[in-house]
Amino acid sequence: MSKSQGSPAVAELKLSVISRPAASVTADLLVVPFTTRSLKSDASGMLKALGFEHEVLGDFKGSAGEICILYRSVTKGAPRVALLGLGEGKSSGDFRKAFEALARKAAELHCGVVSVECSSIGSWVRQLKRTPGYLAGIIVEGVVYGSYRFDYLKSGKLDKEKKKEDEGKPKAIAGLVLAGCGDLAEAVMKGAGAGFVIASCQNRSRDLVNLPGNHLSAEDLSEAAHEAGRRGGFDVTVFGKEKIVELGMGGLLAVNQGSQDPPTFTIMEYKPAGKAKKRVALVGKGVTFDSGGISIKPAAGMDEMKSDMSGAATVIGVMEAVSRLALPLHVFGIVPATDNMPGGSALKPGDVISTMSGITVEVGNTDAEGRLILADALTYAKRELAPDVIIDLATLTGACIVALGMKVAGMFSNDDDLAAEITKSAEAAGERVWRLPLWDEYAEQIKSDVADVSNTGSKGAGTITAAKFLENFVEGHKHWAHIDIAGPAFAAKAGASAGGGTGFGVRLLVDLLKSWS
Ligand code: BES
Ligand code: MN
Ligand code: ZN
Repeated sequence: MSKSQGSPAVAELKLSVISRPAASVTADLLVVPFTTRSLKSDASGMLKALGFEHEVLGDFKGSAGEICILYRSVTKGAPRVALLGLGEGKSSGDFRKAFEALARKAAELHCGVVSVECSSIGSWVRQLKRTPGYLAGIIVEGVVYGSYRFDYLKSGKLDKEKKKEDEGKPKAIAGLVLAGCGDLAEAVMKGAGAGFVIASCQNRSRDLVNLPGNHLSAEDLSEAAHEAGRRGGFDVTVFGKEKIVELGMGGLLAVNQGSQDPPTFTIMEYKPAGKAKKRVALVGKGVTFDSGGISIKPAAGMDEMKSDMSGAATVIGVMEAVSRLALPLHVFGIVPATDNMPGGSALKPGDVISTMSGITVEVGNTDAEGRLILADALTYAKRELAPDVIIDLATLTGACIVALGMKVAGMFSNDDDLAAEITKSAEAAGERVWRLPLWDEYAEQIKSDVADVSNTGSKGAGTITAAKFLENFVEGHKHWAHIDIAGPAFAAKAGASAGGGTGFGVRLLVDLLKSWS
């Protein structure tokens, strides 16, 4: 991160949960959520109590994320009321969508304190078949995720007029009150607190993804891991180039050859206070910018390759969340990092390199660099950390976008139970994965005439051949999963939602780790 400007900061949020109704709270915005069903049965009564006629509902249908703002003049309570649609309220996705939209609206209206009427939370959780804590977590995650903005590289020098008008007004929700919780207040507070931790860690991951290549080198990424370690209270060790050479990490060194900046290899370690239920190694691809190297990429869209360290960002975010939630697991986070540049001494197509495992690789294409750095990281994790489970995340292949699109990640595992658990957590977290096969037929495609294996497959199934390549480096470990997040890690700006880094995988992995706790 460019040292002169400091690092981007996560906005502060004061969270409170109270038993009494939201209407009694002094706030900038009072939020009254409705499912499509409760809109029919309860809306008239609730509106009347707030001083509105039934007619103000107008065309409001209560679909998930739909918002209708009403104004009133009051001496106590809130001057604005937001009717918030929850859709049918039957899926956690509807709640996420609604509260993300609410947070964006509140920011747009410069509402600092927002109180949400949660007196129906009992019936919401019955419909969802979930606990109040779980739903409170989702609501807060939605608000924190929806409040995200990345404006740290804007000086504001060119929009003076707009600034003046908004001067002193809040830019995002600073105080969130979940009101009307009655007897459930305690359970709601617990879930809300966890949701806040998870979503703020996810927003930190998004910051890292959004930082462009000239603001985030491999060394900066390692420094970000250190900062997360300081906040979360876990250990961080960074290997510099010398140590990487000593360990023989030929994959990482090969990708780094064309760069002006040295590579780093970061090991994060969170140990719980008591006995750990599992040892887990999480590995994240940390290519801070992927030009393709000598096999250079086309110009169109190359800028988005600043996001090629999304796997690393997710792993750093998960490490901080896991330690702040004090889960009873021993978790390692491994981040091999470099940019992939075409400098004079760069790796060339046809070169044969030797990885830390001893396996030699023919480099058919220098743009298939992620698997080269992950090879060494997987070998390190397997040999040095003795994990029960290894999971790697990487923006590994464009082919994954062809197969599954921008919203869904590709998932591979040599363990059916682990695959099922990941799928379940992915659904719960609203971060979907779809499992693809690791059949041996695909290994044929990455055979090399001159080395043990090639980093490029013959035509077709590019996501699977990349996974087959990685499989060689877990050296028979029985519980490994690989998640290709090339699609969902980075979003194009679409309508109201913020584009850029998504932090995909933070919620998924935290849910998975919680399920092992
Ligand atoms: N980082 C890219 C994959 C990628 C592409 C991620 C688009 C997100 C959006 C990766 O390093 C890459 O370049 N993969 C190549 C592999 C090929 C050369 C075998 C690809 O997918 O084209
Ligand atoms: Mn590449
Ligand atoms: Zn890449």
